[in-house]
Amino acid sequence: MKKTKNKEIGIVEMQNFLSYNEKIEEKTNTFEKIMAIYEMAINELETKINNLKKEYQVFYNYDLVDHVNTRIKTPKSIINKMNKKGYELTYKEMIENINDIAGVRIVCQLKDDIFKIRNLLEKIPGLIIEKEKDYVTYPKESGYSSYHLILKVPITLSNQIIYVKIEVQIRTLAMDFWATIEHKVKYKSEQEINKKVSKELVNYAKIVNKLDNKMMLMNN
Ligand code: GTP
Ligand code: MG
Repeated sequence: MKKTKNKEIGIVEMQNFLSYNEKIEEKTNTFEKIMAIYEMAINELETKINNLKKEYQVFYNYDLVDHVNTRIKTPKSIINKMNKKGYELTYKEMIENINDIAGVRIVCQLKDDIFKIRNLLEKIPGLIIEKEKDYVTYPKESGYSSYHLILKVPITLSNQIIYVKIEVQIRTLAMDFWATIEHKVKYKSEQEINKKVSKELVNYAKIVNKLDNKMMLMNN
């Protein structure tokens, strides 16, 4: 019998995928290709998370993941962010520096599920944790609480594997509730919010945290 040759397929970082030193333009073929790759990465990761969710429901009768949301930044908002942060407007700079072009949010019911999910993500073959921030143990000054990961997800194309960065936020339903309202109050209102409202929001974040702790203990 003939031996089949091992398939050789190169692995590349996304910024080296094409020669992306060219300048960004909003409605170009290059932008479309890049966004398509981010979309593939989101689909891949979303499926893996939904599989974990199903496994825990069916095998362990446990709701580890409540729901998953995904979003992809529009070219316009990517360019806005790059301008704000002072990056040179090239695709290379964009891919290297803007970590939240693709975003996946995992919402769970109980606080300790956040860390379970984080540890399960770490075990998925091929996924690489590039960065992480634990705003659950150490909330931000605003009161914001969530576990953040920058994951590198491998995407298999016909002739190569590309690593794509995705920002993952893991939080409880209660943290999600707080962050949603806080974001609306802070960023959607045109004028800057006053100190009193900020303080109130920090206070509500503390209440949310107490509630999360009580719900977790009740369930254990
Ligand atoms: P960017 O701000 O996105 O450039 O990233 P960063 O390096 O500052 O990361 P960080 O992990 O602090 O925040 C990333 C994302 O978390 C933001 O884009 C928001 O979606 C969310 N986030 C961070 N801080 C807050 C906050 O105070 N309130 C709310 N509602 N969301 C926040
Ligand atoms: Mg962001």
